[in-house]
Amino acid sequence: MISLSKPYIGEAEKQAVMEVLDSGMLAQGPRTARFEERFAQVCGVKHAVATSSGTTALHMALLANDIGEGDEVITTPFTFIASANSILFTGAKPVFVDIDEATFNIDPALVERAITPRTRAIMPVHLYGYVCDMPALQAIAEKHNLRIIEDACQAVGATYQGKAAGSFGTGCFSLYATKNVMAGEGGMITTNDDALADRCRMLRNHGMKRRYYHEMLGFNFRMTDLCAAIGLVQLDRLEDFTAKRRANAHALNSRIESVTTPKVKEGYGHVWHQYTIRVNGGRDRDAAAKQLNDAGIGTGIFYPVPAHQQEYMRDIVGAVSLPVAEKLAKEVISLPVHPQLSQDDLDAIVTAVNRL
Ligand SMILES: Cc1ncc(COP(=O)(O)O)c(C=O)c1O
Repeated sequence: MISLSKPYIGEAEKQAVMEVLDSGMLAQGPRTARFEERFAQVCGVKHAVATSSGTTALHMALLANDIGEGDEVITTPFTFIASANSILFTGAKPVFVDIDEATFNIDPALVERAITPRTRAIMPVHLYGYVCDMPALQAIAEKHNLRIIEDACQAVGATYQGKAAGSFGTGCFSLYATKNVMAGEGGMITTNDDALADRCRMLRNHGMKRRYYHEMLGFNFRMTDLCAAIGLVQLDRLEDFTAKRRANAHALNSRIESVTTPKVKEGYGHVWHQYTIRVNGGRDRDAAAKQLNDAGIGTGIFYPVPAHQQEYMRDIVGAVSLPVAEKLAKEVISLPVHPQLSQDDLDAIVTAVNRL
């Protein structure tokens, strides 16, 4: 089976972990600090704050932007559930608006209509590694005095007009094992705002700057130096990883003919966390996925149920109709695009997909 994702764990990652173990300093320490510095450089921002996961990064980024009880945050339903859950953790309410069929991302034209007196922020999700229409979203945010918290969990290294994901608002990244840069588990918050970075660092560590003096209610959302050591090595590989993903996506796009393939608009630097086709025209997506699996091709469905249709979410947001997201949830299949695919793997994927 050609797996959908395959974390790259080389000698350098193993060596880096052994060095941390030998040092005896396992919790957040010098490697985490170095990882933060390097991550900030990669995103072209002043600060990066390491966290225990993408979910905790989102949660803290919202809190640090003063989002809480009674507030509304506009976001996409076509995402991993952590985006919406992080809004709920703060006591705020997610307001879902539909997506643009061409990009799978939140449709800026629909965002403005969803704004109410309670709206405090927009959370765009750069799904599959494709940056949202940030100029349009930034214009809306400026006009209505809203914060932007970017869910860039799938988009490390992605750009719009050369500007990196995570540098348009408060950026949130995941370093989960299958992500383009991984640390096993982990997350990162990126910002140019000194005070906001400071609040995130406090929230991460029980509201503490001086040992055992607690200035605010906080959490233990720290990263371990074991994870940071892996992440540091992976960051050095990012350019190479991204180039390989782009080459793989290009190869698939130029040879797949049987289904709708993903297109990228001018000016966007897609990093292909996922390569996602659409099985449309009344064909059965689940049968197609099974046919691919039977041919030895790993697949993923991201995501089969949009956030607004998850059972517990319906109790919170009521009956909402978001036809584009609902349609795409029934059509999408993600195919392997990871950097470790061989030419034979790509040939096998193309052959199997073109037989659908
Ligand atoms: C779009 C999106 N948001 C949030 C998350 C949450 O990240 P983590 O799994 O590191 O908590 C993920 C990770 O899968 C994601 O893909």
